[in-house]
Amino acid sequence: MRPLWVIGAGGHAKVVIDTALASGQFDVVGVLDDDPRLWGTRVLGVPVRAAASALVARRVGVEYAVIAVGNNRIRAEIAGRLDELLAWATVVHPTAYLARGAVIGEGSLVCAGAILQPDARIGRHAILNTAASIDHDGVVGDFTHVGPGVRLAGSVRVGASVLLGIGCSVLPGCSVGTGATIGAGTVVVRDIPAGVTAIGVPARFTPTLDKLCASPLCAQGSDETMAPAIALADRALPSENTG
Ligand SMILES: CC(C)(COP(=O)(O)OP(=O)(O)OC[C@H]1O[C@@H](n2cnc3c(N)ncnc32)[C@H](O)[C@@H]1OP(=O)(O)O)[C@@H](O)C(=O)NCCC(=O)NCCS
Repeated sequence: MRPLWVIGAGGHAKVVIDTALASGQFDVVGVLDDDPRLWGTRVLGVPVRAAASALVARRVGVEYAVIAVGNNRIRAEIAGRLDELLAWATVVHPTAYLARGAVIGEGSLVCAGAILQPDARIGRHAILNTAASIDHDGVVGDFTHVGPGVRLAGSVRVGASVLLGIGCSVLPGCSVGTGATIGAGTVVVRDIPAGVTAIGVPARFTPTLDKLCASPLCAQGSDETMAPAIALADRALPSENTG
């Protein structure tokens, strides 16, 4: 059993701690969080001991850790700060199914009931949340969060730092560009460019959800009416996918 530190004391930390304990691979020795109000409290019985800054990590002798923060950007920031100091744990629930050729990057979390089919790959510090599945040959980038119950069909490619909202689906071979957000329940039927937010069935995307989603463009939603928004998104944020 390896001693494990968990970085982040929010709700997601409960899932990370439970998954780590269920795996039988780790002894969860403490939680680190930058919020001093949380120091001395407990998450699932594990004490919150100190801040997650590099200095403090050195002082408390943390060697092996996982980042329990759902927000992709914050997870990436923390990883960048501590990369040199720590070894990152990869935490996989015993009820997850990993098929032949499946690959999980360091620091990633695979939750209860999740499935990686043959040759599916997820990058570093990614989250494959409860009962999400990636079918054969799927690729998910670093720092991406695959929400609970998400379904990725075969050969789907998802870039880095993407949020795939709870219960969304992506059809075979489609790609989702870096930094995109796919809303809960969305069905992606064609490639989604980097940085956009896409919602609906089938998915429609806009550069900024607040400005364009409420507009008649989005309400009508045909290819023709969406063309200006799509062109704007393409110009602002060119599509970019892991591969
Ligand atoms: C898509 C999403 C990011 C939009 O968030 P937001 O920018 O705060 O948008 P708002 O909540 O202000 O909603 C804007 C409009 O989009 C609609 N909308 C929001 N999410 C939607 C979704 N998933 N599908 C369809 N419509 C959606 C809202 O009803 C609202 O429409 P209205 O203006 O007609 O009332 C968010 O709703 C979402 O689905 N997040 C996924 C969260 C998730 O699953 N995380 C994983 C947790 S473990």
